[in-house]
Amino acid sequence: MGPSSTYPSVPYWSPIPVFETIAIVGATGAVGTLIRQMLAERDFPYQRIKFLASARSAGTTVEFKGEKHPVEELLPDAFNDIDLAIGSTPDEVAAEFCPWAVERNCVVVDESGYWRMDPKVPLVVPEINPEAALAHQGIISSPNCSTTQMVLAMKPLHDAGKIRRVIVSTYQATSGAGVAGQRDLERGSRAFLDAEDYEYETFAHPIAFNLIPQIGSHKHEGYTSEEMKMVYETQKIFGDDSIKVCPTCVRVPVSNCHSESILVETEKKITVDQARELFAATPGIKVVDDLPSGSYPMPKDCAGDDATFIGRIREDLSCDNGLAFWCVSDNLRKGAATNAVQIAELMVKNAAAV
Ligand SMILES: NC(=O)c1ccc[n+]([C@@H]2O[C@H](COP(=O)([O-])OP(=O)(O)OC[C@H]3O[C@@H](n4cnc5c(N)ncnc54)[C@H](OP(=O)(O)O)[C@@H]3O)[C@@H](O)[C@H]2O)c1
Repeated sequence: MGPSSTYPSVPYWSPIPVFETIAIVGATGAVGTLIRQMLAERDFPYQRIKFLASARSAGTTVEFKGEKHPVEELLPDAFNDIDLAIGSTPDEVAAEFCPWAVERNCVVVDESGYWRMDPKVPLVVPEINPEAALAHQGIISSPNCSTTQMVLAMKPLHDAGKIRRVIVSTYQATSGAGVAGQRDLERGSRAFLDAEDYEYETFAHPIAFNLIPQIGSHKHEGYTSEEMKMVYETQKIFGDDSIKVCPTCVRVPVSNCHSESILVETEKKITVDQARELFAATPGIKVVDDLPSGSYPMPKDCAGDDATFIGRIREDLSCDNGLAFWCVSDNLRKGAATNAVQIAELMVKNAAAV
């Protein structure tokens, strides 16, 4: 959680009927690239758009709706004429730029981890807590990618049987570490196969033909920062600190789509058949579950889709009210860009309804 002292206090933010000018901050990154694609795919309403990134990228171009657009340097005055910014930058950059934007009456939907646990900042998954977004005070956070797919899967089970406890092991793709993470997997794998040396940009250990059971830094009693995000963010999104989460986050040599093995223990028993029905009836979830025919979600099949895929649904043999399942989602889409654009759409829809 970042300090909120630099974030100006705004008691109530009126809905804005049309975001005349929008900015994509971090437009050159892995998530920023998908945000450009999402805005075009979903025909997001706006009149003017600008693309911001670091001084390194200023003067280059990015593609949007089939045309090349200049990238501008992220500076305070870049927000002078902006109504909505969708940001996907490193935490320390978001810590600085979000207040610049808010001071200039710009609403920010932020992908970084910096503001997520600030009490003034709603943390939103539109399928779960859309109302939270509408009470924002200038900044709205989108959760960590590993959290988003897990809470989406938890939602129907929590509504039906109240989840007491979750044990989750993640298998996280290298695109979760941005453009440099994707590059590392490709170049590291080639170097490994050619028996050549390769110096990794992003990972502390080789990721090619390996697993790394650490994402983020040491945070709390043997848990990493990525793992503690799954604990705190889940409780904040559901508004329920009694949900216990025990995560283990692992980086795997898969380019895109995070996978998770999830066990949930509910207060009220939910059978496998009931769980399958609940998942199937939930918007944003697709069930792919037929073990005898070898049918279950795999990263290679889920990339490029906005859904969260669930399979391998079975009873937890080790406890009475337990369910185990496998969950895969495109971390750059629903885990990041799609969720952020859906949050922005919520505000437009709400304004239209006022
Ligand atoms: N990747 C995921 O699956 C995922 C999912 C959910 C949330 N997130 C979060 O989204 C954020 C972006 O992640 P990413 O994967 O897109 O990373 P990325 O590929 O490394 O992109 C980072 C972006 O931030 C810009 N940036 C870096 N330093 C800057 C600076 N000093 N000033 C202005 N812009 C700067 C970069 O611009 P340049 O190209 O000019 O350096 C680039 O556009 C992170 O906070 C990450 O935790 C990522």
